[in-house]
Amino acid sequence: VNQSAIPTEWCIDTHTDARAALAAYRLPARIDFGSVLAPVMVRADWRDGVWGRARLQAYAPLALDPAALCLHYAQEVFEGLKAYRVATPTPVIFRPDMNSARLNRSAERLSLPAVPEPMFRAALRAISAACAPFIPGASGQSLYLRPLLLGTQATLGVNPALEAVFLVIASPSAAYVTRPLKVVIERSATRAAAGGTGDVKAGGNYAAALLANAAARARGFDQVLWLDGGEHRYVEELTVMNVFAVIDGVLHTPSLTGTILPGVTRDSLLAIARRDGLTVHERRMGIDALLAAIRAGACTELFACGTAAIVASIAELADADGSRYELSQAPGPMAVRLRARLLDIQEGRAVDEFGWLDPVPLPESSDAGT
Ligand SMILES: Cc1ncc(COP(=O)(O)O)c(C=O)c1O
Repeated sequence: VNQSAIPTEWCIDTHTDARAALAAYRLPARIDFGSVLAPVMVRADWRDGVWGRARLQAYAPLALDPAALCLHYAQEVFEGLKAYRVATPTPVIFRPDMNSARLNRSAERLSLPAVPEPMFRAALRAISAACAPFIPGASGQSLYLRPLLLGTQATLGVNPALEAVFLVIASPSAAYVTRPLKVVIERSATRAAAGGTGDVKAGGNYAAALLANAAARARGFDQVLWLDGGEHRYVEELTVMNVFAVIDGVLHTPSLTGTILPGVTRDSLLAIARRDGLTVHERRMGIDALLAAIRAGACTELFACGTAAIVASIAELADADGSRYELSQAPGPMAVRLRARLLDIQEGRAVDEFGWLDPVPLPESSDAGT
């Protein structure tokens, strides 16, 4: 992470309505993951090929023309990352450079304008600094940051929008707790096809996954395991998480084939595992071989990873024909160890040896330390 000061031309203006909203805000006594929203948001408008200045303003509904392109043709992309304030003097944002790069890959794929990295980072820092007094600070808690980019031009023509809006909203969040997951293998529907948008964070990908997820829930499962769209033979990912398997003591994860979202958590776990001297195989992972390895007891752990849950163990895989494959260890030692190593870095208990944390400068008058 480039921790240098952000050039002043990207500084975020603060509206007076943001100050009033912050002054009036009280964090509810009960928070969960992602449902309590911060009272402020960052907004920047793109028009005539240029970004206007980003500003911190009171959280409020958007006025969108009913003909806005995002509403008809799903020209929308987003990101998700966290600011932590557990064991650090100021909030720290985890790997914003990765999310900036991914947002811009998503934007390019959906014909939206790139968000300049300094503006992206300044926006995240501004909302994190404003919300610092109410970032919950117990382990696992965070300020969840949700940047989004919308094509807002009002036209029914199917063309890239000539107007766009970049927003960052935030949610003071409790730890995302999951019990070990029961996952059903999706043998017929497809999340992503070669050449499609599976490797970017387009809102439409998630809308298209809702039906299979709802069907899985109705049958008592927590998540769907997506296979490749061509042959339905290779493991890809869950709807919002990447997957890992421990086979004969070695870590395996599907390689990034162009239809899988390159998760920041996935990348971070791989870096930590390699630093610890563990062997990691990134490869095409056949579902039938994986199921055979579970049956034979060679695959002892399966787990999923993503920003929200960090690491979530998988207790059971179920196939379309009703067969069930139970994992002997959920959570297993590898998941527990990698999760702890990553959380120690994110929350500031371990040395930030990879340079992953972006410390948020707080204004002098901030009461965030109290
Ligand atoms: C489809 C998909 N895969 C994987 C992930 C995990 O990515 P990350 O670790 O960057 O949160 C997410 C969440 O963003 C996702 O939506």
